[in-house]
Amino acid sequence: MGSPVVLGIESSCDETGAGLVRDGRLLGHALASSMDEHARFGGVVPEIAARAHVHSFGPVVQQALDSAGLRMSDIGAVAVTTGPGLSGALQVGLAGAKGLAYALDVPLYGVHHLAGHVAADTLEHGPLPDPCVVLIVSGGHTSLLLVRDLARDPIVHLGDTVDDAAGECFDKVARVFGLPYPGGPAIDRVAREGDRRAVAFPRPMTGARDAPYAFSFSGLKTAAARWAEQRRTEGGELPVADGAASLQEAVADVLTRKAVAACRDHGVSTLVVVGGVAANSRVRELAEQRCRAAGITLRVPPLRLCTDNGAMIAAVGDLLVRAGAEPAPMDVSIDPSAPL
Ligand code: KG4
Ligand code: ZN
Repeated sequence: MGSPVVLGIESSCDETGAGLVRDGRLLGHALASSMDEHARFGGVVPEIAARAHVHSFGPVVQQALDSAGLRMSDIGAVAVTTGPGLSGALQVGLAGAKGLAYALDVPLYGVHHLAGHVAADTLEHGPLPDPCVVLIVSGGHTSLLLVRDLARDPIVHLGDTVDDAAGECFDKVARVFGLPYPGGPAIDRVAREGDRRAVAFPRPMTGARDAPYAFSFSGLKTAAARWAEQRRTEGGELPVADGAASLQEAVADVLTRKAVAACRDHGVSTLVVVGGVAANSRVRELAEQRCRAAGITLRVPPLRLCTDNGAMIAAVGDLLVRAGAEPAPMDVSIDPSAPL
């Protein structure tokens, strides 16, 4: 008897995800997003997100099963994101996961959302080398982590953003530039037509010797907003493409410079870049160039696994099952502000 099929559930923000993994292999997954419903508010509205999860939970689980050619009774364990994230949204996923685990009489595993992002890459590129440095860049997080065995060892936090996350910076500046939500993909798109040397935006905290792996993006956001305001008062059309390309360059420069330094300083030869911002074309390009120059192996999961999804949660569940980890008790709660 091999290891069981693990169903993973993700509902920490605006994506309802379900994925099925066994023995490190992705069998199927499905996703529903409430992103469009938040667009006119310029950001995720927690109440709308929670309601959308209630609506999507059942259909998404069924779609994931269908895509894998499996039935409900094939599920041997359930893994679910318990935090960090929006509390109402997390509660819907956890309640649904508990219901399934109870009805199917299978073990339930609570998963940290960021561990999910890290594990996403294993579904494409196999087990992670021990140790590796992971750069997590999303709408809610920007962190550099030292990862050993995901199922057994705690993740070591090398550095974190002291204010905004990189994705948040993209999303907020996009709004100021008059680009649609979510801003990251929009900035990436228009930046292709722009000159990345057009505006000399700051490279925050690159000189911080006492905090070499810390990030700050709030000042960059303000600098971009000020630049836009200034150009607008001077009259004429805002050169959005140049602004976007220059902002993207500043973010990509800071992220990749610090990530490569973290690898070098810790004698680590593999860098993994995960989270929604890992989808950014310039972040990918600069990471590739700098890793190649430093002799570091770069791993970036495919785009569909970079943003929030259920497969990444199933991947952690599968690692936990195979490591013989203790399942969560049935009274496990969400932990919206879970520390790393
Ligand atoms: O990981 P994710 O789906 O959700 C969490 O925040 O956990 O990341 C979403 C973030 C958003 O801020 C979005 O604007 C950003 O990832 N993003 C991008 C790109 N695609 C998504 N940022 C820059 N360039 C992109 N191509
Ligand atoms: Zn995420």
